[in-house]
Amino acid sequence: MSRFFEPFAGTPNPSTQPSIGELIANPQRRTWLGGATAASLASVLALEGCAALPASSAGAPAGPLLGFKGIAASAEDAVRVPEGYRADVLVAWGDPIGDVRGMPAFQWDAGNSAQDQELQSGTHHDGMHFFPLPLGSRGSTHGLLVMNHEYPDNNGLFPDGMANWSLAKVRKSQASVGCSVQEIRLVDGRWSLVRPSRFARRIHANTPMRIGGPAAGHPLMRTAASPAGREAAGTVNNCANGFTPWGTYLTCEENFSFHFRAPAQPTAFEERYELSPKVRFSFRWGEADPRFDLDRNRNEANHFGWVVEIDPFDPASVPVKRTALGRFSHEGATVTVCKDGRVAVYSGDDRGFEYLYKFVSSRPWNPADRAANAGLLDEGTLHVARCNPDGSGEWIELVHGRNGLTAEAGFDSQGAVVMFARAAADRVGATRMDRPEWVARHPRTGDMYVTLTNNAGRGRDGAEGPNPANPRAPNRYGHIMRWTEEGADHAATRFRWETFILAGDPAHADAGQRGNIQGDLFASPDGLFIDDRGVMWVQTDVSPSALLKTDHAIYGNNQVVAVDPVTREARRFLTGPRGCELTGGCMTPDGRTLFVNIQHPGEMGALGTDPANPRQLSNWPDFRPDGRPRSATVAVRRADGGVVGT
Ligand code: FEO
Ligand code: CA
Ligand code: CA
Ligand code: CA
Repeated sequence: MSRFFEPFAGTPNPSTQPSIGELIANPQRRTWLGGATAASLASVLALEGCAALPASSAGAPAGPLLGFKGIAASAEDAVRVPEGYRADVLVAWGDPIGDVRGMPAFQWDAGNSAQDQELQSGTHHDGMHFFPLPLGSRGSTHGLLVMNHEYPDNNGLFPDGMANWSLAKVRKSQASVGCSVQEIRLVDGRWSLVRPSRFARRIHANTPMRIGGPAAGHPLMRTAASPAGREAAGTVNNCANGFTPWGTYLTCEENFSFHFRAPAQPTAFEERYELSPKVRFSFRWGEADPRFDLDRNRNEANHFGWVVEIDPFDPASVPVKRTALGRFSHEGATVTVCKDGRVAVYSGDDRGFEYLYKFVSSRPWNPADRAANAGLLDEGTLHVARCNPDGSGEWIELVHGRNGLTAEAGFDSQGAVVMFARAAADRVGATRMDRPEWVARHPRTGDMYVTLTNNAGRGRDGAEGPNPANPRAPNRYGHIMRWTEEGADHAATRFRWETFILAGDPAHADAGQRGNIQGDLFASPDGLFIDDRGVMWVQTDVSPSALLKTDHAIYGNNQVVAVDPVTREARRFLTGPRGCELTGGCMTPDGRTLFVNIQHPGEMGALGTDPANPRQLSNWPDFRPDGRPRSATVAVRRADGGVVGT
């Protein structure tokens, strides 16, 4: 048995004490310094290389961080929230989004055409952000809700499921993914879509896009439809997201390989991206659309696996694939501002044993000139994380010609380095993580957090065993890592890290599988954000195959829990319907509305709902005898209009 099987054993800084950053933001929690004075605290901060107290700490809330009564776990086909709260469905798959060109109603047998679907909300709602209107305002009653639609539920999309597979079916499947831009307004405590709206827009797997950054024009980006390798068609597997200080949305392409028919004889780099006949699962697009058949269009897959920047305020804008941020199964893209005004973008690669990345732009962003930021994410340095056993860490550059990333190693240019970022990261000694999902920054302390959702393969069948940053093997329940950049600067190349929470049951019979959660149990942390008050909102994605199994850490549906980053107390806030995952969490600037996405209610496995009986597991949210479960956004508010979580 490895020492890493013991909860916390071997993990650096196993203390449950607050981080230095938290002490800055929460002066009332400085007791572990023995009643530290401002002067003695300042000397501690100086040791840590921290800057002066952030201005916002002066307004830190005095009351308890978590003020609601936690709810019980639930196996019901319903959304449950605490006493005094309401959760209203805002927009579900198939609802017309309000496009001025048309608003086709949802057909309950899923009989809508591909053309209808291009004007309706997509499936599998995922990452999401609220942009107040007008651009640049901090309003909380009118805005653009922009969201991802991760992947198609081909069984649920058609009255006859996946029988009689055809190009028409593939086109509808392609129209059901991507993003939605929706204009929403709050009236009398209820949100609704503005229909029609000049902003409303669907972006899907055939939407024209541009390619920016070092991979643009690379010979491996040239395709039949894009001879110069500078244009692309569409975006797929849009998982989590990000947003920039200049008001654009970042949608992140995660498991793109499943959308392709793999080449019969893949290269080693293609295999590194699971573009291999050994991978049996596929959404079957390549059977009818030759663009997605890699033996017919070999380079098409190189157009996917990127972060795509979208200007939601201009419906005519062309989305741009920002290749400087690297190509992998991007979970999200969390943007932070460095001390000198450059931006850093953090992104996890959500597959077992993959890496955590950071891009730092070459130039500072320009708050005075929005247009000047248009190409900011095309130039900069991509890094990958190494977590050393002593709690230190390094951001290693992935730059052509350095660290062994040479033509002899298969990288002819920076374009190749970013296109095959996984292979580049393999060469530089990065730390293989347990499926890095969302990254969040504490708004006042600057501490960074990443959810590592689980990795059942760690230590199994000859696979790599535990390391200090991924201490359980197998990792069934996931964990959350926290780190602080050196000098509290997001441009730093060094950091300090620690395991923040090991999810799962602290009373698990197997000591090696015990978690250290204080409060309400959860497993498989995935969605993550920290609100302006400092509450960490964790959204879980236990896979349907593990849900409602008595041997799992918790018997209940996926959920949203609120965590106090100082005490590590977890309190259950929302439970979802059967078969779903919870994702997309974001708030209005006033903190009075929490939007969350209910993704794939009724999912029973990789193929989605059961085509013979789509209502078998769930019929949320409509509960119509002729309907089917639908992914949807819910708006959660306090009945008295107060701040959510207080
Ligand atoms: Fe799409 Fe990693 O969840
Ligand atoms: Ca998902
Ligand atoms: Ca996710
Ligand atoms: Ca997940």
